[in-house]
Amino acid sequence: MRSLYIKFVVITIGIMIFSGVLSFFISNTYYQQKLKPYNDEKNTNIALSISSFIEDHPSINIEEYLNHLSSIGYQFYLTDRLGNESFFGSPFRVTTLSDSIRDEVLNGTIYHGILHFPQETFVTGFFANELENTIGVPFMYNNRNYALFLRPDIKLLFNEMHLLFGWLLVLTIVLSILFVLFSTKYLVKPISQLTSATKSLAKGDFNVKVSTSRQDELGELSHSFLTMARRLEQVDDMRKEFVSNISHDIQSPLSNIKGYTNLLENESICQEERNQYITIINDEIKRLSNLTKQLLLLASLDKNNDILKKESVDIGKQIKELIRNSKWLINEKDIMLEYTIPEVIIKGDPSLLYTVWDNLLSNAIKYNRPNGSIEMTMKEKESSVLILCKDTGVGLNEKDINRIFDRFYRVDTARTRSVEGTGLGLSIVATIVKLHHGTIHVESKRDEGTIFTIELPKS
Ligand SMILES: Nc1ncnc2c1ncn2[C@@H]1O[C@H](COP(=O)(O)OP(=O)(O)O)[C@@H](O)[C@H]1O
Ligand SMILES: [Mg+2]
Repeated sequence: MRSLYIKFVVITIGIMIFSGVLSFFISNTYYQQKLKPYNDEKNTNIALSISSFIEDHPSINIEEYLNHLSSIGYQFYLTDRLGNESFFGSPFRVTTLSDSIRDEVLNGTIYHGILHFPQETFVTGFFANELENTIGVPFMYNNRNYALFLRPDIKLLFNEMHLLFGWLLVLTIVLSILFVLFSTKYLVKPISQLTSATKSLAKGDFNVKVSTSRQDELGELSHSFLTMARRLEQVDDMRKEFVSNISHDIQSPLSNIKGYTNLLENESICQEERNQYITIINDEIKRLSNLTKQLLLLASLDKNNDILKKESVDIGKQIKELIRNSKWLINEKDIMLEYTIPEVIIKGDPSLLYTVWDNLLSNAIKYNRPNGSIEMTMKEKESSVLILCKDTGVGLNEKDINRIFDRFYRVDTARTRSVEGTGLGLSIVATIVKLHHGTIHVESKRDEGTIFTIELPKS
């Protein structure tokens, strides 16, 4: 993780340096193209106004006047045809100036040294304290020609500003680097946290902790990661529970069968007992076979979504057929069954849909009370169909309602425990309904009854 941190820091500082160099070149170009001519023009105007002031005031003492001006921020070089030279203000670093330039100015030409100063870099161009980097103007004083060369005294004019901008630049760079170092740590921290969390997750430790307080993409990532970890934990728990449930549900009929076959081996038992044992063994075998069938169905439902063999099914007809087939069971339990089932044709898998009705009705019968009743209703809507299965059975409490669709879940009361079952029926129902893009909903009250509502789209 350290390498990500270093990469980030190096890239950010690299970008800063690159932008610095780039902006230097851009501003240099801007100086050369725009500011230099402007600076030249400005100083030319100043030089001209100084020279015309001298010409207009022949009685003025030039030296005093130029000394005075130099104290407010200019450097001057004054010369005449006789070769007299004098400097005012801070000295020039380089004082070479070709004679031809001097003569040209004495002959009346204005010298634009600032404009034509060699284009090297921004700094030397503007700050070069050289006599060539000046503006030269001619003037007449007491009938003699003079040449006056001028440049602003950068040191005097810009001293504090210089320092200020210098410090500003240094501070900006130092602070930026510090902030980059710290903020990158802050950015990278959740990633390192996530990495170690991923590692412990891979080792099977689901109790991972990552901070999800951030409001950005990393926060979102941590949040999804936690959700994933919880989900994986649930899946892992479910898998463990599933295996132990299956083992138990297979083991108990097997040991029953083994026990009763041992008893059958005893020659001395009477025929009546023998028949009883055989019936028990048969029942256990039926239970095992039923369990494996349900498990196989669940496994194939889990495997893929295109297991559905959709065709047009008259589900009204299916339910009526189911009721007819269950008549004897209903009568046996003294349950009253009412139904309002119109003919409704939907697109679906006939045998899977039949499994749904079968499970709902057999639950309503199994978990009913003597003399109870069942009501099956079907309502056709515009694009869907509603199937209600209402019973006056043992009902469910809040906690159980949330769990009855879990695999192997059976409500643990004496009444339901005494009834045969695997706890797989409703999870099969829920899976099939989901595969048909429908919904299933339960309403129930303990000791009053339960209503299952299924809504299936027609196509
Ligand atoms: N109509 C119902 N009334 C009361 N409880 C029900 C009803 N249907 C299902 N249950 C509860 O939900 C559990 C799960 O049902 P199901 O998955 O069909 O398993 P099984 O019928 O094999 O017990 C049942 O054991 C029972 O406790
Ligand atoms: Mg059932």
